[in-house]
Amino acid sequence: MLRTLLFLALTAFAAAAEISFSKQIAPILIDQCMECHRSGKAKGGYRLDTAELMLKAGDSKAAPLVAGKPEDSELYRLIATHEEDDRMPKKADALPEKDTKLIREWIASGAKMDVADKKTALRAIVPDQEKARAPEKYPRPLPVTALALSPTGSTLACSGYFETTLWETATGKLTARIDSLPERILALAWIAENQLAVAGGVPGRAGEVWLVNPSHPKERKRLATTRDCVLAMVASPDGKLLACGGADNLVQCFELPSGKLRWQIEPHADWIMGMAFSPDSQHIATASRDRTAKRIDAATGEIEATFAAHDCAVLSVTFSPDSKDILSGDVEGEIRRWDRNGDGKKDTTMRPGGRTEVLALGFFDPETPLAALGNGAVVSVDVKSRRTKDKITRYEDRVNVLLVQRIDKTVRIITGCHDGKVRISEIGKPEPLLQFVAAPGW
Ligand code: HEC
Repeated sequence: MLRTLLFLALTAFAAAAEISFSKQIAPILIDQCMECHRSGKAKGGYRLDTAELMLKAGDSKAAPLVAGKPEDSELYRLIATHEEDDRMPKKADALPEKDTKLIREWIASGAKMDVADKKTALRAIVPDQEKARAPEKYPRPLPVTALALSPTGSTLACSGYFETTLWETATGKLTARIDSLPERILALAWIAENQLAVAGGVPGRAGEVWLVNPSHPKERKRLATTRDCVLAMVASPDGKLLACGGADNLVQCFELPSGKLRWQIEPHADWIMGMAFSPDSQHIATASRDRTAKRIDAATGEIEATFAAHDCAVLSVTFSPDSKDILSGDVEGEIRRWDRNGDGKKDTTMRPGGRTEVLALGFFDPETPLAALGNGAVVSVDVKSRRTKDKITRYEDRVNVLLVQRIDKTVRIITGCHDGKVRISEIGKPEPLLQFVAAPGW
């Protein structure tokens, strides 16, 4: 008797708790199906990137979703079938049983879609609370993939796992954690005290760009949701524009602080690995795996020049302090200097670190470029001899991020390494002023 009552109570509870499309179903489809069923890649003529498209039959003409009837719904039939050749996700393991069951129950109970506008991208309807949270303590250091200095220089924002962490630059003390952000943070830009731009995503799945107020992290706005991970992002020095690019080969430019999309273009045939803004805020440079680097008009998105002399993937770019020339660095260690027309300056092929990736570039002074390398070194380059001028530091692991900070007459460099360490050093001093592992709990 007791057991029956309990059973009734449980089933009644199950029936009462309606399955939410946006919270429970959409995340499964985004994770497991979207890579093959979206704009540009609609396998079987079927797309899943909006609720509206999900309802439209693909090549088979079989209705994907029939409310109340899972067995008549092609989408359910294909995830539940025992014919491995037909089963979705194609050429992969079947969905976990709990997910298949959940989708079945959702269709059986009417396949209701709790979205205001069925044309909204599925990625944009999943509530942020459904995202995984940052770990309380990190089990191991996380490679530093992005850093940004606050406008006053007192705080450093650092990439974390589903979060951005803030550290005091004077002491290395953790001061805040900004949670519920993309799983991987691959770019940060601190535009004003109350505006921190955060970009990243999950490679192969999704990209996101956020604008967060670091003192009130709940005040945040999602500027973009992209088809693939955002790998690079830069803000104009005048704080008016924010541009990002990534593994969908797209470059988007937003107006600040409104976040309105100003333009978007697809300038490259492969991933955008690095970006820079000119000091005069007029131009953007992009580095791509397609072996080229480009210069783009920041106001209009028009491509002004293409530099095609690298033999391999280009990873990093920076403008010269006068905004005229661009330096680009590639995966095999070459750094090239080129002008506004995309012409390589004569004899400027520099290879200061040998065959190691040039991961980030900057300038020590108008004549002296700085390069952060895959072999753990940060070097300054003598442009005339095209050789290493000074080995500024040498760490154990790849230097993923390099920031240059000027305080009066001294120049500081801030580096983020693959082993999770952040270091603040003054050029000319052998030991770092400060170093710490940028992972809470370490
Ligand atoms: C790796 C690529 C890939 C993934 C991932 C994938 N599919 Fe497919 N899907 C296909 C291909 C290819 C077809 C075309 C039919 C075939 O080859 O079996 C197809 C066909 C379909 C169709 C039939 C369209 C029609 O009317 O002909 C549906 C429905 C579908 N997929 C749903 C899903 C769902 C739901 C998921 C996630 C659980 C998923 N697919 C994941 C590749 C994929």
